[in-house]
Amino acid sequence: MSSTRETMLDPFKTWKFLVSTITIKPIDVLVFLLKTTLAIFIVASISLFFYFAFSVQPRWLSSPICNNSQQKFIAKNSSSSQAYGRTNLSHIQFGIGGSAKTWNQRRRFCELWWRPNVCRGFVWLDEKPPNGENLPPTSPPYKISEDTSRFKYTSWYGSRSAVRMARIVKESFELGLDNVRWFVMGDDDTLFFLENLLTVLNKYDHNQMYYIGGNSESVEQDVIHSYNMAYGGGGFAISYPLAAELVKVLDGCIDRYASFYGSDQKVQGCMSEIGVPATKELGFHQLDIRGDPYGLLSAHPLAPLVSLHHLDYVQPVFPGMTRIGSLKKLITAYEKDPSRALQHSFCYDFKRNWSISVSWGYNVQLYPSLVTAKKLETAFSTFQSWRTWSSGPFTFNTRPVEKDPCERPVMYFLGSAERVNGDTTLTTYVRNVEESAKECDKPDYSRAVAVQFFNVSSARLNPAIWRTAPRRQCCEVINSGEGVDSLRVEVKIRACHRFESVTPP
Ligand SMILES: *[C@@H]1O[C@H](CO)[C@@H](O)[C@H](O)[C@H]1NC(C)=O
Ligand SMILES: *[C@@H]1O[C@H](CO)[C@@H](O)[C@H](O)[C@H]1NC(C)=O
Ligand SMILES: *[C@@H]1O[C@H](CO)[C@@H](O)[C@H](O)[C@H]1NC(C)=O
Ligand SMILES: *[C@@H]1O[C@H](CO)[C@@H](O)[C@H](O)[C@H]1NC(C)=O
Ligand SMILES: *[C@@H]1O[C@H](CO)[C@@H](O)[C@H](O)[C@H]1NC(C)=O
Repeated sequence: MSSTRETMLDPFKTWKFLVSTITIKPIDVLVFLLKTTLAIFIVASISLFFYFAFSVQPRWLSSPICNNSQQKFIAKNSSSSQAYGRTNLSHIQFGIGGSAKTWNQRRRFCELWWRPNVCRGFVWLDEKPPNGENLPPTSPPYKISEDTSRFKYTSWYGSRSAVRMARIVKESFELGLDNVRWFVMGDDDTLFFLENLLTVLNKYDHNQMYYIGGNSESVEQDVIHSYNMAYGGGGFAISYPLAAELVKVLDGCIDRYASFYGSDQKVQGCMSEIGVPATKELGFHQLDIRGDPYGLLSAHPLAPLVSLHHLDYVQPVFPGMTRIGSLKKLITAYEKDPSRALQHSFCYDFKRNWSISVSWGYNVQLYPSLVTAKKLETAFSTFQSWRTWSSGPFTFNTRPVEKDPCERPVMYFLGSAERVNGDTTLTTYVRNVEESAKECDKPDYSRAVAVQFFNVSSARLNPAIWRTAPRRQCCEVINSGEGVDSLRVEVKIRACHRFESVTPP
């Protein structure tokens, strides 16, 4: 052991040896080295300058490379997409947990996102649903789960159906469909945003073992169930090779973790035995909240929107609309620019001292003052925790809705979304006249309240942006605020310029 260490080259020893044999002062050697380095550096810099100044493709001098338009930096294809082609919907097998009794109600959620003859997979029911023969082709086809009465289930506050749900991944796998890369599990009240699901899955190599999803928003849930788990309602994806390992041990796990409440927990118990942690993706939303999802949806993290769950429990996404009607509306904007759905942009109008916060495809908030970006990015706590209906804590920060109406933003909700000139989208947002904020009668506030519409234009966000370093996009106010313009504010969202930030003077 020690002899090998002796023979290793020790740069410090070699240096001392050199110095002592030549018998010059170490300081002289240092000065000599520094001078040489400096000389080499100067010569190199001069030649580099001439190289770039006179080469055919100048790089620095015309400076386009410094343009921080994020869309330019399109990431290279991952190894998997190079070798196997990109994952598309045909490579996903969905396994949706449902029950015969509720299917006729719940399928309305599935019909919002399911694409017949394009999506593959099934909703798994406990028995044949009423009017089983006459289900419309717009809903996912159903299969009846195997009998699970032989398994143990001991959670005193849960339901045995968790065993059946946990086995959906196994029964899906055992159908042996061709060319499945991912098994995506969800509930019958989960809304998937398919383009974004694909964007996220394409970040990962389906030939490796991945378990991808998100946590509960309510800390109390994560404490009771698990932080290490991908929550079933938000949906999770299991790559084929991991599913192959999972199905070998799953039935045993179901009995071993008989005391676990949920199917997702039982699956995670197995994952823990296999040794595969959940890869967290911020766009999966278990939506373990009560009340108004407004605050959460208008402060979406910088990640593609992949799923929403519990939509029967929270208030409708848009005020004055039904649950399904408001989701259809959200989807009309989503379809125009999937990557941008719910993405935040902030800008100031220094002429009027206004702050504008856009949650694309959902709402605009207008503050008649300069509010910090730090504050704007923080969710309003318009909702409570799932289990105890308390004001938190959540897995992200929240801020209270101000009591003083003059401190609250003026709110605008999505009016319409359209695509204009191919790659550009125009979304409009209409003032929510019901809001209490109009009670503020300060002059600054009345000027803001006079604005009836926001028109927001932006180029479609290339999904490849999600493979680059994340940065929120910037926006700017286009119109002057004079005359008719006082009723309408036009905003343009775009990639930030270099050194641009949302910074008050
Ligand atoms: C950056 O790129 C955008 C669009 O690609 C262009 O309009 C703008 O002029 C560029 N800015 C600079 C400083 O080159
Ligand atoms: C990425 O993959 C797609 C589809 O396989 C292909 O068309 C494209 O040229 C690839 N791009 C790069 C940079 O390799
Ligand atoms: C999905 O990818 C496969 C190749 O793996 C290809 O054969 C198929 O046409 C693609 N489907 C769609 C809808 O793009
Ligand atoms: C905006 O705010 C600054 C600083 O608070 C103030 O000096 C300026 O007069 C305000 N401008 C307008 C148009 O209200
Ligand atoms: C902005 O929105 C208003 C109201 O929706 C609409 O009438 C107007 O045409 C829009 N402006 C532009 C430039 O598209």
